Amino acid sequence: RLLGTVGAAGATGLALGAVGGAAGHAVTAADPATALATVGSTGESFHGEHQSGITSPMQSHGHLVAFDLVAGAGRREAAALMRRWSATAARLMAGEPADDDTGVALDAGPSSLTITFGFGRTFFDRTGLAAQRPVQLDPLPAFSGDRLDPRRSEGDLWVQIGANDALVAFHALRAVQKAAGAAARTRWQMTGFNRSPGVTAQPMTSRNLMGQIDGTRNPKPSDHDFDRRVFVPAAGSGSGSPGQPAWMAGGSYAVVRRIRMLLDDWEKLNLRDQELVIGRRKSDGAPLTGGGETTELDLDRTGPDGSLVVPANAHARISAPEQNAGAAMLRRPFSYHDGMAADGTPDAGLLFVCWQADPLRGFVPVQRKLDRGDALSTFIRHEASGLFAVPGGAEKGEYVGERLLE
Ligand code: HEM
Repeated sequence: RLLGTVGAAGATGLALGAVGGAAGHAVTAADPATALATVGSTGESFHGEHQSGITSPMQSHGHLVAFDLVAGAGRREAAALMRRWSATAARLMAGEPADDDTGVALDAGPSSLTITFGFGRTFFDRTGLAAQRPVQLDPLPAFSGDRLDPRRSEGDLWVQIGANDALVAFHALRAVQKAAGAAARTRWQMTGFNRSPGVTAQPMTSRNLMGQIDGTRNPKPSDHDFDRRVFVPAAGSGSGSPGQPAWMAGGSYAVVRRIRMLLDDWEKLNLRDQELVIGRRKSDGAPLTGGGETTELDLDRTGPDGSLVVPANAHARISAPEQNAGAAMLRRPFSYHDGMAADGTPDAGLLFVCWQADPLRGFVPVQRKLDRGDALSTFIRHEASGLFAVPGGAEKGEYVGERLLE
């Protein structure tokens, strides 16, 4: 349903762009033809089995924010906070104003806003709930390529905000920060973006700041094993992962990595060398062994000189589930650009967010392997990291995390 809407907006957007360009129109503040009917009116549901913002289509604007509970705030304060945040998210996602609204998004529709809440490892100590902490929140192993800034890593609570409008996303961010009240303080905050709906002739996989089509081989909700890979099953369903507490049913684990791209170095590579780093063509994302974007990689194929067509250290080879005992995750990132770093290079890259039912069967084995010999690692640097338990969605009348905190 949602993709259909975005696709329709795409066609409209492109046509309007062409007309404007050809006639050399001055740009007006609001073009009635592209108003709410397209991007702004699309909404996601706050209530449901899973929280929104996991399988929701990627939005063009995002904020990732971590909070720490203030000294003295415990389980009661955390429960009240989750109740306030849930009420705020439900209203904003329906396109309604928040309490004491700032007015920033008054004239916009919901614009596919999603607000997703997670708990970090330290949350459980602060709230006296250590016995309820899933083993899946055990610290991620250290990787040799890590250059992590602890001040921009982890946190008691995590909020992911996404929307197809920058003002709607900012409005939600401020509402969430205000609703934190005296209970929690922002620990770190990152802002990201993706392509806007409507700028390509048809819906297509997004590109990252290296220019690659990124997301092709993501698991799809229609895959028979999608739910098992991405969501924690209900207790007693027979497919449960070991060590998952009942309150996590319908939930998922988010691994967040701020991955800086060393773009000055990357952009010095010629196209052929860039394609060898990934093992796919840059133009359309197709494997170097031929076909289209969704054609399988032929990992055994050799060229006339006997060398592998998809190199042994190509990112798409090393990260493939076939090479990692089936380990897979749903990647749902935002790009970021925070100007120039002190060393004069762009502070830009990927706010890598991946979702899985168990990080030990998703991110960890794949990153371990990438860390040992991914051709991409010369051109990236992991600068911050977070691991969060994202509980299942709230039913009507319930707040997110209630099954843990009540
Ligand atoms: C695939 C880029 C980091 C896991 C890909 C592809 C690209 C890409 C272009 C091929 C198209 C696709 O299937 O999506 C990048 C960039 C990264 C990055 C630019 C860093 C800035 C990571 C990290 C992980 C990861 C940290 C996990 C530890 C994967 C997986 C696939 C993939 C699982 C799909 C493999 C398959 O299913 O065959 N990545 N990636 N990537 N990447 Fe990354």
